[in-house]
Amino acid sequence: MTFSDDRPTMIEFKEVHKYYGDYHALRGINGTIKAGEFFSLLGPSGCGKTTLLRTIAGFEDISSGVIMIDGKDMASVAANTRPTNMVFQSYAIFPHMTVEENVGFGLRKDPRSKEEKAKAVAESLDMVGLKGFGKRAAHALSGGQRQRVALARALILKPKVLLLDEPLSALDKKMREHMQVELIKLQRQVGITFILVTHDQEEALVMSDRIAVMFDGEIAQLADPETLYRRPATKKVADFIGTMNFVPADILSESGNSVDVDAKGLGRVTLDIAQAPVKSGDSPVVGLRPETLTLLYDDQKAPERETAGVIDEVIYFGDMTYYDVYLGGTDVEVRLSMRNVPGRPVLDVGTKVRVAWSPSALVLFR
Ligand SMILES: Nc1ncnc2c1ncn2[C@@H]1O[C@H](COP(=O)(O)OP(=O)(O)O)[C@@H](O)[C@H]1O
Ligand SMILES: [Mg+2]
Repeated sequence: MTFSDDRPTMIEFKEVHKYYGDYHALRGINGTIKAGEFFSLLGPSGCGKTTLLRTIAGFEDISSGVIMIDGKDMASVAANTRPTNMVFQSYAIFPHMTVEENVGFGLRKDPRSKEEKAKAVAESLDMVGLKGFGKRAAHALSGGQRQRVALARALILKPKVLLLDEPLSALDKKMREHMQVELIKLQRQVGITFILVTHDQEEALVMSDRIAVMFDGEIAQLADPETLYRRPATKKVADFIGTMNFVPADILSESGNSVDVDAKGLGRVTLDIAQAPVKSGDSPVVGLRPETLTLLYDDQKAPERETAGVIDEVIYFGDMTYYDVYLGGTDVEVRLSMRNVPGRPVLDVGTKVRVAWSPSALVLFR
């Protein structure tokens, strides 16, 4: 990640709450989004992502707190005068208009001349890879092309912040992956702040400079993708992003900079305090990602720690094999992933194995 944190702040949330009647949809949102950042709001359906995005746009009032955009309190600023523009989940393009009519729609009250507007439309279409599509009927476009029209229509107004609510969710997997890359390129090219709502953790990891993970109207963690993946702050975040094994552990002792634990099946291990981010009152478990556990073949030696195990399940994925392995004669089962490189056989259920792991890859939740 190359995102540098010294960019100016574009959006700031201060203790933002939102009630729908009695329902507490946003429960004290704090945080900042930087200028030029590709930022994602990630969380399960119903956690408040769309609500938060709509409060930025001004389509939704907040019950208390402050939202600043570009240094200005938005409390009394109407949606249509905010420096934001929204691309909706259902693209909301006008099927009976041509592509250029759709894109130019936002300019209908713009005082510029017809020629200048046409030039702006052409530039906008060029930007999203639809050069020469201006005269086509919008209803004749594919899903991916409609998405581009919606983007061009939002960008032509030159907003400081582009808000995208699950813009790719209606596309098939291949087109979605293609558009993810296109969106990243587009964001770099135009340089404005993008805020993407998604429930797809992979999409958020691939696309974002930083991500706010939300549950139940709260931000559980706000960090860059690598930090979220490697150092999730809570068990819930760890479970939502990728696959994480949880192994029960006893805390033996704790000092200012380290924690000694006894993890079932793995044994005693000393963790740096950075590997035990927050105390949330859960019964202690250590978390390990599948790729941080490695099967040892033949007389291979573990670089750090090694634990005996028995294979309980084999899931073959072509390039990868996932193994579920009982650790150290216990009932603790972990999933590990191995790349299927030439000369490395796929092992059978019941095989006794040796599992290598590294203490620095563990995270403690307690
Ligand atoms: N206009 C509304 N009136 C009442 N409840 C709403 C309204 N909009 C959203 N909600 C509720 O607020 C919660 C968050 O919704 P939303 O922000 O749409 O979630 P997400 O986008 O994360 O799926 C949900 O429980 C939803 O039912
Ligand atoms: Mg939503």
